[in-house]
Amino acid sequence: MTVETVLRGYADASADQIGRMEGFDPARLLAPVMTVLPTTAGRMLDVGAGTGYVAGWFAEQGHEATAVEPVEALRQAGERLRGDRVRWLDDRLPHLNVVRALREQFDLIVLSAVWQHLDETMRPPAMANLAALVADGGQIILSVRHGPGAATRPVFATTADETIALAGRHGLSVRLAAQAESLQAGNRAMGVRWTWLSLAR
Ligand SMILES: C[S@@+](CC[C@H](N)C(=O)[O-])C[C@H]1O[C@@H](n2cnc3c(N)ncnc32)[C@H](O)[C@@H]1O
Repeated sequence: MTVETVLRGYADASADQIGRMEGFDPARLLAPVMTVLPTTAGRMLDVGAGTGYVAGWFAEQGHEATAVEPVEALRQAGERLRGDRVRWLDDRLPHLNVVRALREQFDLIVLSAVWQHLDETMRPPAMANLAALVADGGQIILSVRHGPGAATRPVFATTADETIALAGRHGLSVRLAAQAESLQAGNRAMGVRWTWLSLAR
């Protein structure tokens, strides 16, 4: 199983995925971590952004938003919908070579519903690369999926504790861990839950 398998799954379902993502309310999605979101505008990075509705929401609040999305159809939809206020990059975890080549750091990095697509060999380098992109005083906000995924978009089980321990090895400490139900009725019926983490430097 490779990153390519997951990305092909999203590419093949891109029409459905675009509609689904654009139906989400970013404020409702981020409600579990609302108390730790930055109160002043800064540099934010949305990794595995899909159509970038989360990056767009931060951009509307004055943040300099960058969205990373490796699936062309999703990225192009995002560029069409909000290319005026979000910088778009074609890059992927675990290496994030394009982002790292910018030699920038970010006050906020968001991974919403992305971490589950990395297997146990990919999570350590992904966390190392993400942590190096966090500015002093900044944070990663990341949702950890519990429960099954679609067969065509493989997911790999991990826990909040394992994620917190991995972040700790790169100088990040947990500021908040909040449980949340899935926003999607189909996923709720399958027993999907999330733990939202704020991992701060
Ligand atoms: C469930 S969707 C979440 C999209 C959006 N963040 C949201 O919360 O609705 C997962 C996204 O992660 C992207 N993705 C999957 N594997 C990735 C990887 N290795 N690196 C970067 N993005 C990845 C997919 O293309 C897809 O856009």
